[in-house]
Amino acid sequence: MSKILVTGGCGYIGSHTIVDLLENGFSVISIDDNSRSTAYAITGIEKITGKKVKNYKVDLKNFDETRAVFQENPDIEGVIHFAAYKAVGESVEEPLLYYENNIFGLVNLMKCVQEFEVPYFVFSSSCTVYGNPDNIPVTENSPTKRAESPYGATKQMGEEILQNFSKANPATSIVLLRYFNPVGAHPSTLIGELPVGRPQNLVPAITQTAIGKLPKMMVYGNDYPTRDGSCVRDYVHVCDIANAHTLAIQYLSAKKNTSACDIFNLGTGNGVTVLEAIKTFEEISGVKLNYEIGPRREGDVVAIYANNDLATTQLGWHIKYGLKEMMETAWTWERRIKEAEEKVKSN
Ligand code: WQD
Repeated sequence: MSKILVTGGCGYIGSHTIVDLLENGFSVISIDDNSRSTAYAITGIEKITGKKVKNYKVDLKNFDETRAVFQENPDIEGVIHFAAYKAVGESVEEPLLYYENNIFGLVNLMKCVQEFEVPYFVFSSSCTVYGNPDNIPVTENSPTKRAESPYGATKQMGEEILQNFSKANPATSIVLLRYFNPVGAHPSTLIGELPVGRPQNLVPAITQTAIGKLPKMMVYGNDYPTRDGSCVRDYVHVCDIANAHTLAIQYLSAKKNTSACDIFNLGTGNGVTVLEAIKTFEEISGVKLNYEIGPRREGDVVAIYANNDLATTQLGWHIKYGLKEMMETAWTWERRIKEAEEKVKSN
């Protein structure tokens, strides 16, 4: 049974990916320093799959501790790398924190991949590398633009580091996965997104407002040149994103890759506006959302959604969840969090 190391395995997309890997017959270990996650996710994974997962509480910036994990697990066949900070706004305020954590951590990890000649590597990238695209939908050949934030810059640098690494290290083949907007939660609602502090992203802002954690939410601008004036995004269910990682490992192990570093867009191909997302949430939840239209948010892209032909034809990726299921699972997860918090308070 192939062993896969998932970095950031206690995080939102990492935990969902571990579930998918386990359900597809892989064995999995995780590295997560729990600086922005908790081991609670591992409990959820084990409840969903009935399988054990070991998390090494290691900071990738600590090379010796990272290397020790590879030394203890010489049978690691693939690495899927999620562990990174990802808050756009925070990255603007604390650029060095992002460069140190996201880039230094990646370089340490790649030193281990090189030394132990790990054959397959999958990188968590983002549509943010396209900036504000001139043409949509974007393909993998659409021009990348200067990142709008240090967070986006670390994704672009990460891609460049890996492209150069793959040319110099033929023992390792790489896939870069450019996510659009991952949302929703596992249907079991045993794992989901746990934003740290006030949610920056749209869907957790919606669900926290609907459940009363936030008094109201702001729609950042409705004067954009789009069909209803609000920004357009390509929301994709986190379970669909997770499955793409399993497919990427299988694609590499079947030697189907066309280069040492192949790139895939992970989006549904459907552009949805902020107001349409809110309307869909209201329809599925029966909750009238308390929001108001505010000023535009600095750095926001006007409109972007994916051409996902490569992922569907080359990886065999098929979208299973639509916008309604994204909102339903996000809302059910939010209500589960509230139940758990109330249970703790009553104890
Ligand atoms: C979506 C739309 C906001 C909150 C970023 C990163 C991307 C990925 C996902 C990590 C925008 C609007 C949001 C709110 C709002 N990062 N919005 N009110 O900015 O497309 O992508 O997060 O995985 O790499 O770039 O996602 O969810 O923050 O915003 O109106 O309270 O919702 O203006 O138009 P974004 P988002």
